[in-house]
Amino acid sequence: MKKLVLASGNAGKLREFGQLLAPFDFEVLPQSAFNVPEADEPHVTFVENAIAKARHAALQTGLPALADDSGLCVSALGGAPGVFSARYGGEPKSDARNNAKLLADLASIKDRRAHYVAVLVLMRSASDPQPIIAQGEWHGEIIDAPRGDGGFGYDPYFLVPGTGMTVAELPHEEKNRRSHRGQALALLIARLRLGM
Ligand code: IMP
Repeated sequence: MKKLVLASGNAGKLREFGQLLAPFDFEVLPQSAFNVPEADEPHVTFVENAIAKARHAALQTGLPALADDSGLCVSALGGAPGVFSARYGGEPKSDARNNAKLLADLASIKDRRAHYVAVLVLMRSASDPQPIIAQGEWHGEIIDAPRGDGGFGYDPYFLVPGTGMTVAELPHEEKNRRSHRGQALALLIARLRLGM
């Protein structure tokens, strides 16, 4: 099996990517197994941050690397919180503070359109001139009162059109099937089927 380093310490992501990429002969290993510290994410776009994380992991390990970056973009806020989604309400990061800030920002705004974004980058080496980039978007709207206890982050406030439910109310498998991350992964896998 070919080793692939995941530029994340998240155990859930490691398990999910490991299962999905095993058929392509990849053994997915966390960057912590190589003592790779977290990369800086200095950019204002998801794709630039995902590339920076993947390149950092590939450079430090000499292995192919996979990175992801994701967040929420609200149309009336010019795409905020965007790449700052995890820490929108300040440090230390807190879903409750992030959601409180989002609702305060939207208090007098009628246009509640928003979308989640996920970008995946798979780099064969740190100098790969053509990394595989897969992006997913999930569109919905932000409501004022939270509903549901599934998911995480902004999910209790993110209403999924056509379902009458927030992401936090959707069954887990349904979220994975429809989500920005699920879509990006499906695209990445389709691309891998064509050969790396
Ligand atoms: P990360 O890229 O997994 O670190 O996610 C960045 C931030 O975006 C998270 O901390 C959440 O605030 C937000 N986010 C990304 N994906 C989701 C999601 O599926 N549901 C809710 N919030 C999300």
